[in-house]
Amino acid sequence: MSVREAGAGSSAIPVRTRTAPPPSFTLNGTAVSLEGIDPHETLLELARGQGYTSVKEGCAEGDCGACTVAVRQTFARGSTYRAVVSCLTLAGQLSGVEAWTAEALSPAPLPDGTVEDLHPLQAAIADGGGTQCGYCTPGFAMSLFAAYYTAPRPGAAPEGDPAGEVLAGNLCRCTGYRALREAATALAGAGVGRSGDPFWERLARPMPPHPSVSVEGRDVIAFRPSTIDEAIQLKIAHPEARIVAGATDVGVEVSRGGRRFPAFIMLGAVDQLRDIGRDDTGLRIGAGVTIAELKVWVSPVTLPLVHRLLPWFGSRQIRNRATVGGNLMTASPVGDLSVAWLALDAKAVVQARTGTRTVPISRFFTGYRQTVVGPNELLMAVRVPPVVVPPGGRRVEWAHKVARRDRVDISTVVAAFTVTLNDRGVVTDARLAYGGVAPVPARAARAESALVGASWDADGTAAARAVLATEFAPIDDVRASVSYRARLVTNLFDRCVAETSAP
Ligand SMILES: Cc1cc2nc3c(=O)[nH]c(=O)nc-3n(C[C@H](O)[C@H](O)[C@H](O)COP(=O)(O)OP(=O)(O)OC[C@H]3O[C@@H](n4cnc5c(N)ncnc54)[C@H](O)[C@@H]3O)c2cc1C
Ligand code: FES
Ligand code: FES
Repeated sequence: MSVREAGAGSSAIPVRTRTAPPPSFTLNGTAVSLEGIDPHETLLELARGQGYTSVKEGCAEGDCGACTVAVRQTFARGSTYRAVVSCLTLAGQLSGVEAWTAEALSPAPLPDGTVEDLHPLQAAIADGGGTQCGYCTPGFAMSLFAAYYTAPRPGAAPEGDPAGEVLAGNLCRCTGYRALREAATALAGAGVGRSGDPFWERLARPMPPHPSVSVEGRDVIAFRPSTIDEAIQLKIAHPEARIVAGATDVGVEVSRGGRRFPAFIMLGAVDQLRDIGRDDTGLRIGAGVTIAELKVWVSPVTLPLVHRLLPWFGSRQIRNRATVGGNLMTASPVGDLSVAWLALDAKAVVQARTGTRTVPISRFFTGYRQTVVGPNELLMAVRVPPVVVPPGGRRVEWAHKVARRDRVDISTVVAAFTVTLNDRGVVTDARLAYGGVAPVPARAARAESALVGASWDADGTAAARAVLATEFAPIDDVRASVSYRARLVTNLFDRCVAETSAP
């Protein structure tokens, strides 16, 4: 076995040592070697290659859920099953991962063709008539599986629709959703504490450690460092390498777009990127925190604006992998969290070998899909400053996302506003951030200035609204016309004022 090092010019990083076992992951309880595997390969391809053909390809871009599998992963400091889309999970990310497909749920078919001991969720799908052609069914089953072994959080679902929350990332084109929704409603959390159930009991086992490893195919290598220092040194030594966090953006380039990279640096094992905490300078959210973890952490008290926005972010499968850092670094004009951070006056913490620097999000995006982060730097965290409200005053935090579907769709226009009012209901400070109306997420700076000193109601804000109407020059695209987007800019502002002007 070879020793692979980070490269000339950097301190040597033994990404694999002579004593380290070859990279592997566990699929349905059996170890699968990643030795010699092209790190671009997806978990979907690997699973099917192992004979687990329940894992289906529908869209190859994270939308349909036909490829959903469950992985056991550390989550909010425990171990849980999370539904993920295998079409966007790259082999280079898999070392040490435990993944489960629908084949694991029940014993092999008997010689007479029957199958006994269906898992309760399979029985619920079958009994309710929840399957027809069956193409989507294993993906639904694995979304239900993850929900079955996870205690539901009260109030976590948008509009009180827990079944929709579980299943939003799975599409069925022929059966309809009634039976599946009923199964989700009946079964969510039902497997928690089920003694004698090997899947439940497995959750008590410690997660395997995540040492630094590499997965090396022909002419391509994926490094998976376990510290930030290693990651930075690898970046310096391999400027051509693509950084990957959750791969919900990069994975689409690979899986759907067929893109090939000479090298990857996978950040999934860098625990220093996964902390969330509060101190005197506010809230610090590590770049590697997933959207699902953030969603558990935020509440109407801790971070109301983000709490309001996150239920509209992707699907469970996407939120389980997508990270806060990936969302900022992808620098999409409709990155939902980028817009939230702008409204919250957040700062990006950027790390180089020589130290860290802090950049306000308002100066973070330098152009379409471009950021201030240099080739030898990594995004470490986002910092949100504490909220200061004048005595007797109040703070308005509001967000809304307009998309063609209410879930699992990127925004047509997304708005996030923070407004501080004094004890007389007069605006002392305002941040109006929008996505989908400019090449980068942007603030309506002139309207913000016009709001200061205005009373926070429809009449008082009318002049600022008129300024806001001229602030952006949105473009036409497949999602919406110029005029529709322009209307949304002011309509979303009107809606915020209407909903929040009375305390
Ligand atoms: C079906 C689907 C639905 C989606 N829905 C939404 C949605 O509702 N709202 C939304 O905003 N987005 C959405 N997205 C986009 C995507 O999920 C998010 O942008 C996500 O946060 C990206 O995070 P990631 O960890 O997966 O990034 P990755 O794909 O791993 O990386 C994205 C980019 O960031 C870079 N990068 C990642 N981490 C770092 C770091 N620490 N330092 C430097 N560079 C880094 C990578 O090199 C890459 O260029 C959706 C995507 C899909 C496929
Ligand atoms: S194939 Fe559609 S989400 Fe993976
Ligand atoms: S049962 Fe046919 S696609 Fe869902």
